[in-house]
Amino acid sequence: MFEPTAQTGHDLVAGERLFRGHPLHRRVEVELDGLRLHVRPVLPGDTGRIARFVQGLSPTTAYRRFLAPTPRLTARALATLVDVDHHDRETLLALTADGPSSRLIGVGQYVRLTEARAEIALVVGDAWQRRGVGRMLAAQLAQAAAEEGIAELTATVLAENPAPQRLAVGLTAAVEAVHAGTTVDLTIRCPTMATPRQV
Ligand SMILES: CC(C)(COP(=O)(O)OP(=O)(O)OC[C@H]1O[C@@H](n2cnc3c(N)ncnc32)[C@H](O)[C@@H]1OP(=O)(O)O)[C@@H](O)C(=O)NCCC(=O)NCCS
Repeated sequence: MFEPTAQTGHDLVAGERLFRGHPLHRRVEVELDGLRLHVRPVLPGDTGRIARFVQGLSPTTAYRRFLAPTPRLTARALATLVDVDHHDRETLLALTADGPSSRLIGVGQYVRLTEARAEIALVVGDAWQRRGVGRMLAAQLAQAAAEEGIAELTATVLAENPAPQRLAVGLTAAVEAVHAGTTVDLTIRCPTMATPRQV
C-alpha cells in the first residue's frame, strides 16, 4: 500500500502526484460495458483537465449539471470541485485509463450539508452517456459518502431531465422525489455496494 513520505507529504502513483490524506482505497478500476474505467478522487493537478472537460460538454448537458448556462467554469467553481477534504467534500473522476494520459469522462461530487446529509451532483461527457458510467460514479460517490457518515444524498435536477431520476431509482429503492415547478428535489438513502477491484 502506498504511503506518502513523511518528508514531502506526497509521492507519485501512476505518474500523478498524491498528497497526504488522498484516500487511495477510492482509486478503483471498473469493467463496464466492455470498457475498463478508472475512478479516483480528484488531485490538485486536475484543475485544467476538469476545465477542458466542462468546456467540451454540450450546452444541454452543462445546463442540466449546473442548472444555468455554463460554457465554462469560473476559477471559484473549479476550486469547489478540486479543493476537497475527502470527508465533508469529495470529488471523484471517471477516466478512460490510469495516469496522466487518461481521458476524463465523468465528474461527480458530494458536499456535506449537515452531519448525515450531503448534496450530490454529477456529469458524464456526452459521448459517454447511457453506458452505465453515471450509475457507476454515483454508486462510488454514495459509498464514499457512507464511509464518511453520510446517510442521505440529495440532488436538485430539472424536471425535464429523466436520467438522474432513473439513475437514483436504479441505485437504491429508497428514493424520494419532491416536484417543485421546473425542478425535482431527489433524496436517496446512501446505498452500500460491493467494492470493485482496487487498482
Ligand atoms: C445524469 C447523467 C450523469 C447519467 O449518466 P449516464 O452515464 O448517461 O447514466 P447511465 O448510463 O448510468 O444510466 C442511468 C439511468 O439513466 C437512464 N438514462 C440515461 N440517459 C438518459 C436519457 N437521456 N433519457 C432517459 N433516461 C436516461 C438510463 O437508461 C439508466 O436508467 P435505467 O437503468 O432505468 O435504464 C448524464 O446523463 C449527465 O451527465 N447528464 C447531464 C448532467 C446531469 O443531468 N446531472 C444530474 C444532475 S446533477
